Amino acid sequence: MDFTIRPAEPDEYARIGELTTAAYVGDGLLAADDPYVERLRDVGPRARQARVLAAVDGEGALLGTVAYVGEGGLFAEVARAGEAEFRMLAVEPDARGRGVGEALVRACLARAREQGHGGVALSTQQTMAAAHRLYERLGFRRDASRDWSPVPGVDLLVYALTF
Ligand SMILES: CC(C)(COP(=O)(O)OP(=O)(O)OC[C@H]1O[C@@H](n2cnc3c(N)ncnc32)[C@H](O)[C@@H]1OP(=O)(O)O)[C@@H](O)C(=O)NCCC(=O)NCCS
Repeated sequence: MDFTIRPAEPDEYARIGELTTAAYVGDGLLAADDPYVERLRDVGPRARQARVLAAVDGEGALLGTVAYVGEGGLFAEVARAGEAEFRMLAVEPDARGRGVGEALVRACLARAREQGHGGVALSTQQTMAAAHRLYERLGFRRDASRDWSPVPGVDLLVYALTF
């Protein structure tokens, strides 16, 4: 692995916000004027309620990010008692296909195990096909009974993995 995964530093939050919005908007997963774009860009609030991880290469370039939610609270959307969650997984387009996304998800799984959780859940859009393959490769399964809609017209799928 030519990159490391570690907690993000506050002076990286602006870049992490840009990377996350660019990954979602650039892939056509979200319209540039969607109100959720601002939530993706504003890393400060999620860093207060979740553990924001960064993937960086040997030169310190930011390759990807994810927000691990281990303690529930306001930032958790679908985690049940005893379950962790992660959100806002994104990898820089030029850095894709090198296992960065997989390593970020594995870091969340490792942290969840360390914390004694029984599994991990997440929400995802129907259009995020690359992410779905990654989740299934790592053992996540669809739990359609937990699919939900944060706002009318946005239908999210839930994937869950039980340890
Ligand atoms: C989903 C995402 C995080 C995956 O990141 P990644 O670092 O490319 O992940 P990996 O390298 O671990 O695996 C990516 C897959 O693309 C393949 N791939 C190979 N070369 C690639 C390339 N140049 N570009 C993209 N994917 C490539 C990998 O082999 C792997 O294939 P598979 O899933 O069919 O087995 C990334 O595509 C992304 O940021 N997408 C937009 C945001 C998103 O959908 N987030 C999920 C929120 S729920």
